[in-house]
Amino acid sequence: LTDKPLLGEHVLVTAGPTRERIDPVRYLTNDSTGTMGYALAQMAWRMGAQVTLISGPVDKPPLMGVERIFVTSAAEMYNAVMSHLPMSTIVIKAAAVADYRPEFESDKKLKKQDDALLHLTLAQNPDILKAIKERRNAACFVVGFAAETHNPDYYARKKLEEKGLDLLVLNDVLEPGAGFGTTTNRVSLYYPDGSVQQLPLAPKLDVARDILLAIAEQKKGKVIR
Ligand code: C5P
Repeated sequence: LTDKPLLGEHVLVTAGPTRERIDPVRYLTNDSTGTMGYALAQMAWRMGAQVTLISGPVDKPPLMGVERIFVTSAAEMYNAVMSHLPMSTIVIKAAAVADYRPEFESDKKLKKQDDALLHLTLAQNPDILKAIKERRNAACFVVGFAAETHNPDYYARKKLEEKGLDLLVLNDVLEPGAGFGTTTNRVSLYYPDGSVQQLPLAPKLDVARDILLAIAEQKKGKVIR
């Protein structure tokens, strides 16, 4: 990249899954590997931004130029995001945050006969994006991700609206070569004015570059509400 379209920006990226503890040996999680979020963090740095990556538990080396903060649960991710929000000009929530956690975490390994294991009761995690919407300063540009297996277009528009996002990146997780754990991805970008831009199937770093270029372009024209 010859020019630095994100020079002067402070980009906060979240990546990977969260882990919600049941007991010392068990947890609830999902298939996210963090690859797309890490690609975004690396590319944002190459484009001139100062980058903080808040990472769920993934097996990935650190990234050149990127400050990485590891978290485990959605609650920890929430706290890390909120403490970095005041410094951020762009927030990209690529993490697959668990919507629910076990209501009670046992400090002892539960036994097969324990009712708590057979009937696991869940509590809802905070929606980090919704909280960002309420607390961010007006100039901060907020990007969400959606991974859908059905009615992707409907859910993408709904999330963009409900979470008050400036951009929503949709992954169709069932499409070959897209979604969790792949090296390539195919995404569509949903804008608040109702327009949609489909990006071609490409390596995740290339997809990250296209997403970040779209963000840089949109941010210039963002009307501050
Ligand atoms: O609602 P859903 O989880 O499908 O929305 C996905 C988007 O919302 C992602 O950008 C994800 O990081 C974010 N999210 C969040 N907090 C949650 C759940 C999802 O910020 N508790």
